[in-house]
Amino acid sequence: MKQTPILIIGKNGKTGARVNHRLRAMGYATRPVSRSTNPSFDWENPATWRSAIEGTEAAYVTYQPDLAVPDAEPTIKAFVRVAAEAGLKHIVLLSGRGEEGAQRAEEVLKASGISWNIVRASWFAQNFSENFMLDGILAGELVLPAEDTVEPFIDADDIADVVVATLTEPGHRNRLYEVTGPRAMTFAQCIKEISAALDRPITYTSVPVDQYIDVLRQEGAPEDLQWLLHELFTVVFDGRNSKVMSGVEEALGRPPADFKEYIQKTIESGIWAAVMQRKSA
Ligand SMILES: NC(=O)c1ccc[n+]([C@@H]2O[C@H](COP(=O)([O-])OP(=O)(O)OC[C@H]3O[C@@H](n4cnc5c(N)ncnc54)[C@H](OP(=O)(O)O)[C@@H]3O)[C@@H](O)[C@H]2O)c1
Repeated sequence: MKQTPILIIGKNGKTGARVNHRLRAMGYATRPVSRSTNPSFDWENPATWRSAIEGTEAAYVTYQPDLAVPDAEPTIKAFVRVAAEAGLKHIVLLSGRGEEGAQRAEEVLKASGISWNIVRASWFAQNFSENFMLDGILAGELVLPAEDTVEPFIDADDIADVVVATLTEPGHRNRLYEVTGPRAMTFAQCIKEISAALDRPITYTSVPVDQYIDVLRQEGAPEDLQWLLHELFTVVFDGRNSKVMSGVEEALGRPPADFKEYIQKTIESGIWAAVMQRKSA
C-alpha cells in the first residue's frame, strides 16, 4: 500500500499541500498534481485527467474554483467515470457546507461505485492569511459584504488531519464528516481578535453585496470570481452554516482547534509580519 502513490489533486492548495506534507511524513508515496505539475491535472482539460490518475488507487480531490459553480456537477460526473476506468478505488472529496452545487457533486461521488469519503468543510480560517482576505489584513482594513452572520471557521490543519485519516484508515470508508471550528464568529469578531493579538489596529467594514461586487468589477476581477463571491456571500452566508458541527471529533476523537490557536500559529509563521512591523498607535 505504501508503494502505490496517493493522488492529491490540488498540490499547492491550502489543504492539498498540508495533506501531502502529512502523508510524506508518515512514509506514504504521493502524487500531488495541479496545472503546473508533470503530469499535470487541469479541471478545465479532461484530457489531462487519465494520465494523472493511472497507477494510483486512492485520491484526495479538491475541485477548482469551487464546487458551488454550475460546471462542478457535470465535471465531477465525468471525473468519477475516468477515475473508475483508470483504476481508482477510493476518493476523498473536499466539499463546502451549505452549497447546493457541492451537495450535488457529493451525490455523484456517492453513486459512483467507488469507495468514498466526503469532508464537508466550513470556511477556512486560512482565508485570513492564505487567500483573498490577506490583502485586507495587511492593509489594516478588511471590507466584506457580511454583517452579523456567524461562521465556525475551521483550521485547514484540522481538515488535513481528517483527510489523512480517511485516506489511510479503512474504518472511515463511505462516511461524510461535516467539519467546523469550535466557535461561530462574525468577521468583525475575527478581525478584533487578530488585531488584538497583533497589537495593531485592523478594522472591519461591512458593505452591501452589490457595492462589493461593483468594486471587484472596477478592479478587473474575472467575471466567474465575481459570480462566486456573490454566491458565497448571498447564499452560503445567509445564516445556514452558523451551527458548529462535530466532524473533527467524530473522525479524530479530539476537538478542532480554536480560532485563537490559528492566530498564534499564523503570527509565528510570519505571514502577517508586515502588519507587526507597522508602528503601534
Ligand atoms: N476556502 C474555503 O473557505 C473553503 C471552504 C470549504 C470548501 N472549500 C473548497 O476548497 C476547494 C479549494 O481548495 P483549497 O482552498 O485547498 O485550494 P486553493 O488554495 O484555492 O488551491 C489553489 C491551487 O489550485 C490549483 N488550481 C487552480 N485552478 C486549477 C485547475 N483548473 N485545475 C487544477 N488545479 C487548479 C492551483 O495550482 P496550479 O496553479 O499549479 O494549477 C492553485 O495553487 C474548493 O473546491 C472549495 O469548494 C473551500
